[in-house]
Amino acid sequence: MTATLLTEIGELTTNDPELGRRGDAALVLQGERVVWVGERAAAPPADESVNMAGRAVLPGWVDSHTHLVFAGDRTAEFEARMAGEPYRAGGIAVTVEATRAASDEALAQNLRSHVDEAARQGTTCLETKTGYGLDVANEERCARIAVEVADEVTYLGAHLVPPGSDPESYVDLVCGKMLEVVRPHVRWGDVFCEEGAFDGEQTDRLLRAMAGQGLGLRVHGNQLGAGPGVQLAVRHGAASVDHCTYLTEADVAALAGSDTVATLLPACDLSTRQPPAPARRLLDAGATIALASNANPGSSYTTSMAFCVATAVLQMGLSVDEAVWAATAGGARALRRDTGDGAVGVIRPGARADLHVLDAPSATHLAYRPGVPLTWAVWRRGLRQR
Ligand code: NIG
Repeated sequence: MTATLLTEIGELTTNDPELGRRGDAALVLQGERVVWVGERAAAPPADESVNMAGRAVLPGWVDSHTHLVFAGDRTAEFEARMAGEPYRAGGIAVTVEATRAASDEALAQNLRSHVDEAARQGTTCLETKTGYGLDVANEERCARIAVEVADEVTYLGAHLVPPGSDPESYVDLVCGKMLEVVRPHVRWGDVFCEEGAFDGEQTDRLLRAMAGQGLGLRVHGNQLGAGPGVQLAVRHGAASVDHCTYLTEADVAALAGSDTVATLLPACDLSTRQPPAPARRLLDAGATIALASNANPGSSYTTSMAFCVATAVLQMGLSVDEAVWAATAGGARALRRDTGDGAVGVIRPGARADLHVLDAPSATHLAYRPGVPLTWAVWRRGLRQR
């Protein structure tokens, strides 16, 4: 296996407490793994070397929250929102109709093109969800298509009660037959706990059913108002509760005292004209946060993690280090991929060789030069993508 030395790195962000963020660094990749990280002068011999010419190197983005198995377009809804209409969960039904009408090939092609778009911008590990099928056959095919492309797949049959369905019968279906057929394809189960979607009691029941089938749990919570999502996520030991835009002090304290990651979605807050999630309060209280794109055709139609990082710094009061950590190691923690052989979101020996090279001398440029496409090179599983 060829060993590749990356040398003349301007600034290396490792996310490893022992290796830190350092200048004068080099690293070696072999196969799918990072095999050596250290001072340039101490670099071992390698088969080939790539000169970074003073550029910054960081772990590839870990986008732990997207909804990319979909068809159709919601430009009209976006325009109405920009003209003053509020974002409502009900918009999901428009995408459900288009998704059900699309062929497997069209769904796979649309998913692939969005994942490629994300990869060109430095995303090397990506989660995506079902949730625009909302019947047994369509949820199953969305999951089946997703596993071919995404690193992690989440079952979100509990995204919305489809128009015309009885809510309690639909919850029975999501906990029963639908779960049974989707289960072989997915590692995670999720519920959209919000007014207009699923209430606290329904969420509790759904989480118990999915955990009972061995799924790890995630929750969409506290997106459009305060609600029980965060507390339920913590009580059920969910890996992550996502959105967290409206939090009470008790919610912040519960997250700080738990292993549940608060996954913040700054592009979604902006696109739905909600206030920025309270990232600073969460970090100051001791909670773990992740940043993710929430790429979907309704509330956040971007695959750009760099945009999320810049927004988190400029709008949410995070430092660049905190935001970059949250968009890499934080996402890995939210997906429980942060430890062991092949860990993502970190650069250390044994980690997956997922690297993002900026055409800039430091990660600070991500926020200092917002909106500028800074990705210069990307390695995923040790293979150079661009
Ligand atoms: O995370 N909140 C629920 N689901 C998505 C929105 C999906 C849509 O509007 O199509 C979200 O924002």
